[in-house]
Parts: sequence; C-alpha cells; structure tokens
Amino acid sequence: MSNKVVVITGATGGIGEEISYQMAKDGWHLILLNRSKSKSDLLVEKITKQFPSTTIDLFITDLSIPQDIRKTVKAINAKYSGIDALINNAGVLFKEKILSKSGNDMHYQVNVFASYMLMELLKPLLKKGKIDNRLPMIVNTSSNAIFMSSALKVDELKKPKKSGIFHSYANSKLALTVLSKRIAELYKKDEIKVIAVDPGGNRTDMTSGEAAPFFVRWFRMFLPPPSKGASYITAPLLDKDFSAISGELISSGKIKPIPKKSDTNDKASELMKLLQNEVVKKE
Ligand SMILES: NC(=O)c1ccc[n+]([C@@H]2O[C@H](COP(=O)([O-])OP(=O)(O)OC[C@H]3O[C@@H](n4cnc5c(N)ncnc54)[C@H](OP(=O)(O)O)[C@@H]3O)[C@@H](O)[C@H]2O)c1
Repeated sequence: MSNKVVVITGATGGIGEEISYQMAKDGWHLILLNRSKSKSDLLVEKITKQFPSTTIDLFITDLSIPQDIRKTVKAINAKYSGIDALINNAGVLFKEKILSKSGNDMHYQVNVFASYMLMELLKPLLKKGKIDNRLPMIVNTSSNAIFMSSALKVDELKKPKKSGIFHSYANSKLALTVLSKRIAELYKKDEIKVIAVDPGGNRTDMTSGEAAPFFVRWFRMFLPPPSKGASYITAPLLDKDFSAISGELISSGKIKPIPKKSDTNDKASELMKLLQNEVVKKE
C-alpha cells in the first residue's frame, strides 16, 4: 500500500471519478466513500486497469444518513492508523425541495453536514497524517454559484424558503466555504490545513440535470470535461506551491475572497452553532 492515503467522497462519476484517477496516478492509496456499489465496482475496475499498482478501499456510504457516516468512520478507524487527506467532493443539486431522512433539506444534509461530520470524525486520523513533508489537508468542494447568490442565510439551511441553484444549493455551498475557513482556524493547533476549492463549471451529470439553470445547460457543451475541475481540487494536494495556505477559497485555480457579506464572524459562529447542535442531537 502507498504511504499517502486520501479519503474521497462521491467518486462514482463526474469530478470525483477524475479526482480518483489523478490521485491514483500520483501513487496515493484511495479510500472511496460512495453510495452505489455497482458504480463503485466499475470504477475500481477502471482505476486498476489504468493504474495497476493502485490500492483502493471502498466503503459504501450514503452521506445523507449520519448513522451511515458514523459506521464508515468506525470501520476506517479500525483499519487505519492515519490518513493524509480528505476530499469532500460529493454534492447534490436539486430543482425541487428534497428532504433527507432527518427532515433537512438535502443540499444542507449532503453538501454541508456530511462534510462537517467527516472533518470532525476523521480529525484524529488526519492529525497523524502528512503529505511528504507537508501538513495533512482537507479540501472542501465549493462552487461558483456562491458568487451569484445573496449572503449566507444560516437559518434557511435546513428549511430553505426557496429551492434551486441560486437559493438552497448556493446557500449550502456558501455555508461549506465559510465553514472551511472557520475549521481551518480551529484545526490550526492540530496542524491540519483546510481549504475550499471551486472547480468551475464542468461537463458532468450535475450540469446536464434539470436543476441546472437554462444558460448552464445551453453553455454545457462549451464547458471543460470534469478532469479540469478535478485538477483544481487535487492541485493543493499534489502541487507544493499550495503548501503554505489554509482557510482560503481557491476558485478556478486562484485565491479569491469569500463574498464579503457572508465572510463575517457572526455568520461563522451561527453556522458552527447549528452544526454542533446537530451532532449532539444525533449522538
Ligand atoms: N459540475 C460542475 O460544474 C460543478 C461546479 C461547481 C461545483 N461543483 C461541485 O463539484 C462536486 C462534484 O460535482 P459533479 O459535477 O461531479 O457532480 P455529479 O456528477 O452529480 O457527481 C456527484 C457525486 O456525488 C455523489 N453523491 C451524491 N449524493 C450522495 C450521497 N447521499 N451519498 C454518497 N454520495 C453521494 C454521487 O453519487 P451517485 O453516483 O451515487 O449519485 C456522485 O458520485 C459537487 O460537490 C458539486 O457541487 C460542480
């Protein structure tokens, strides 16, 4: 097994699948957290065909179910003494309001809460990791939708007033981006870096679905393949130039400020309170 270990969520297609190839190419051991067994089996076959020396561990996990996440983390803990990177890639975009089993908006449940749970529950293993001579790192997948939406509305995350890409989806991605910055501050003492990366527009299932706005679906044929977005996500792990940063938002390869109205101490504190209450409630 390779000495560098990465946990990747939502690798069954789109950007996550390409992230897996790029990390495998660089010689990492892959721990994949996917929902579909059949799609995962096919993916493992494709990765090992292209990169025969890659070692892969698959944990079938529905990220919308907190108990499933806990079960998977327990299994990872039983098998590994440390991990070096976590890529929270899995994400959902719906046109309609879809609720999780916990009764929360699905954008919040998968895009924000699952990412938060994985950061918190895998922190003890991440603390023991390192990337060559650099610190271990968490990469959270943001979106360019955050630049086109209004300010983060923490009170609407679980129960949005409106659905769609510029409302509940963008609000969830804004929350994840603000959360990344706050978690980066909190994990400084643990020597774990945390960044948010917007992969830009990519030609994936997400941009072909009816939840994507008309102009995105129309423009989709001009969007790059998901390997492009994946390269933005993997760059902070594979490229030593990024070794000094933590708490930043990288959008299309460049450090960008988080939209001002959302990047406030009050918003970050309100968000942390919401998430921490939820974790306590689920225990
Ligand atoms: N595509 C873009 O233009 C774009 C732009 C900005 C940001 N992003 C972000 O980039 C990330 C990847 O997007 P994509 O375009 O590659 O999307 P995609 O093709 O729709 O893939 C999404 C991945 O997330 C997984 N997933 C969804 N719900 C899950 C759940 N409950 N449990 C476990 N896995 C789950 C899917 O698994 P299944 O196969 O089981 O459905 C799939 O592997 C997302 O976070 C997205 O918000 C994408």
